[in-house]
Amino acid sequence: MEIKEITLKNFRSYENCFLKFDKGLNIISGKNASGKTNILEAVFMCAIGKSVRAVRDKELIKWGKDGFSVKLIASKRNIEHTVEIKYSQEGKKILVDGIPLLRTGELIGFFNAVYFSPDEIAVIKRSPQERRRFMDICLCQQNKNYFYSLTKYNKILAQRNKQLKEGCSGESLYIWDVQLAKEGSFIVKERKNFIDAVKIFAKEKHSALSADTENLEIELDSPYLCEKPEEEILKRLNESIQKDLIFKYTTEGIQKDDISIKINGIDLRKYGSQGQQRGATLSLKLAEIEYLKSQTGESPVVLLDDVLSELDDERKRALLNETSKIQCIISCTEFEEFKDIPHKLFLAEKTENSSNIKPI
Ligand SMILES: Nc1ncnc2c1ncn2[C@@H]1O[C@H](COP(=O)(O)OP(=O)(O)O)[C@@H](O)[C@H]1O
Ligand SMILES: [Mg+2]
Repeated sequence: MEIKEITLKNFRSYENCFLKFDKGLNIISGKNASGKTNILEAVFMCAIGKSVRAVRDKELIKWGKDGFSVKLIASKRNIEHTVEIKYSQEGKKILVDGIPLLRTGELIGFFNAVYFSPDEIAVIKRSPQERRRFMDICLCQQNKNYFYSLTKYNKILAQRNKQLKEGCSGESLYIWDVQLAKEGSFIVKERKNFIDAVKIFAKEKHSALSADTENLEIELDSPYLCEKPEEEILKRLNESIQKDLIFKYTTEGIQKDDISIKINGIDLRKYGSQGQQRGATLSLKLAEIEYLKSQTGESPVVLLDDVLSELDDERKRALLNETSKIQCIISCTEFEEFKDIPHKLFLAEKTENSSNIKPI
């Protein structure tokens, strides 16, 4: 998988931007707030159909304008394809090879990328929600049914919570519970398969990075890892109705799933040092690359957003080594350390209210 070029119109700080990328390493350099992340955000959007920064599409429009577009040309198994995302007052449109998609889900699996930013370095110590996001973003990229099921589950859950907020009766919840159990059981099974595949890669990568001194183990942490998850979800939802009526939201379900991450048997979520947590996140990210490769038969494009300055020299070397054979776009403020590695360099600059970026 390789990105050839990207064109932005009124996206974030860019009014017009056109970039041609190299096959290998691409570096976007520039001061803080010059518009580096905005480029990576636009590229990753073509993989997942929305911003990785969890904002609404409307917020991506350049201030004062009334819509944006992002057009990416990528080559997949040596055939060129385009992904275009347009947003206007009429809403969002995604086109693949010029053909509008009926649903965002149809974009899934088309263009695969792995995005790594300092925010994700904190994934291990942050909330279960962040750890689920890691899993969901990767799974949604190559598993359409998972994406549809998760979207459906979240909609049903929102409706159930709305009813609870409005002070409904316990009996009226059953209709939602049956649907939550059906979608939830599918989701939990897919999550389990995903973690089972990723954990092997993560263990391998981590052993190599720690000279075999650390054993990294990740597991899905969910009460529904049982023979009949559908029944178990329904049972727990039913048992917690009184609690839900008091708290006015749904307290049980796969929206509580977590990932347990251990090094030599110690739970990193609670007891890991910052160094260990960073190291394990890097191993998880490298595992994500391997996982996407194993699922799609092609290397994903790797987007490293200002992440190298967060890693020690050894881990930095490991990351650059692992990504040396695949296309990579790195944003950074300092690029001295890349002087011995062949790369294409871009410089991002911000004038009063617009960014400019050009190759140098
Ligand atoms: N919707 C928007 N319209 C115009 N400018 C924006 C918008 N969203 C963010 N910006 C600007 O983009 C810049 C941040 O860009 P970013 O890519 O995050 O910078 P960095 O180079 O630090 O990664 C800020 O100057 C911010 O004001
Ligand atoms: Mg940034």
